[in-house]
Amino acid sequence: MTASADFKDRMLSLGLARVSEAAALASAKLIGRGDEKAADQAAVNAMREQLNLLDIAGVVVIGEGERDEAPMLYIGEEVGTGNGPGVDIALDPLEGTTLTAKDMPNALTVIAMGPRGSMLHAPDVYMDKLAIGPGYSEGIVTLEMTPAQRVIALATAKGCTPQDITVCILERPRHEEIIAQVRETGAAIRLITDGDVAGVMHCAEPGTGIDMYMGSGGAPEGVLAAAALKCMGGQMYGRLLFRNDDERGRAEKAGITDLDRIYTRDEMVTQDVIFAATGVTGGTLLPGVKREPGWLTTETLIMRSKSGSVRRINYRTPADQH
Ligand code: FBP
Repeated sequence: MTASADFKDRMLSLGLARVSEAAALASAKLIGRGDEKAADQAAVNAMREQLNLLDIAGVVVIGEGERDEAPMLYIGEEVGTGNGPGVDIALDPLEGTTLTAKDMPNALTVIAMGPRGSMLHAPDVYMDKLAIGPGYSEGIVTLEMTPAQRVIALATAKGCTPQDITVCILERPRHEEIIAQVRETGAAIRLITDGDVAGVMHCAEPGTGIDMYMGSGGAPEGVLAAAALKCMGGQMYGRLLFRNDDERGRAEKAGITDLDRIYTRDEMVTQDVIFAATGVTGGTLLPGVKREPGWLTTETLIMRSKSGSVRRINYRTPADQH
C-alpha cells in the first residue's frame, strides 16, 4: 500500500475538526485582552493536547518554529498516539494573534494533514504570494507579472474591467509600491492588517468579493493557504524571500536548494490533504466563537482535497467544560 492509500482522510478529517475547535475555544478566552502571546499559547496547548489523542503517527512539518525556538508543536515534533498512518501536519494554532488580542475580524485556528512528504517544509521566512480563485486557465496570472499586469490579466479572463476587480493585500509599508500599482489600474483593494491564510482563502470562497490576493507574508502561512486552496480550488504561487544568511541557512536546513524557485499550489502541497479551520473572531469566512450564558459555539470548516468536499460543523459545548 502506498503512503497515500494509507492516509485515512475521511475519518481523520473529523478528528482534525476537534483539534481546530479546541484551539479556538482555548484562545477565545483571550479575545480582546491585548495579550497576543497568551492567546497563542492557549491555542498551542489545546491543539497539541487534542492532536496527541488522534491515532496517527504525525510529524509537524509547518509549526510554531524550530525546536530551539518553540517548546511545543515545533518543526519535527512527533504528535498523535503513534498507532495509525504516518502523516505530515502543517498548523497555525492561532493565525492572527494580534487580530485576537485586539478583537479584530478573521482570526482562525488552522491545520492541514497529508501523507508523509505531501507538504513543502517551508522555513520561517517570508514568501511572495499570489492567489486567485477557481475557474481560470492555469497561469493567467503569474508572480513574474507586475501587480498591474495581474489585475488586467484577471479582468480580461473574468470578462470585466479592472475597476470590477478587488485585490486583498496585507497593509504593510513594504507593500506601498504594489498598492500604488494596483490602484493605478482602478481596481479596489481590501487592506487587511493580518491573517493572509484567510486573505488567500477569500479568493476561493464565494461571496467574499475578493478576486485576487498578492503580497508577501509568512512562508509557513503560504503552505497552509496552498493546502486550503488545494481543497477549495484556485491557483496559488509562492516564492521564498530571504533577507539574510540566517534565513538562507533555514532554507538549506529544510532541504531547499533552489532559493529562487516559484512554487505552484501543487508543488507546495503535492498530495491530497485535509484542512480544518475554526473561526476565533468573526469574519467573512467563519463566525467567531460565540459565547452565550452557559454555552460556547464554534464553526469549523473541514475540507478534503481528494473529494473536493467542504463541511461546516457547528459545535455547541457547555461553557463550564472549558
Ligand atoms: P501571527 O498570527 O503569527 O501574528 O501572523 C499573522 C500574519 O499576519 C500572517 O497571516 C502573515 O503571513 C504574517 O503575519 C505577516 O508577517 P508580518 O506581520 O511580519 O508582515
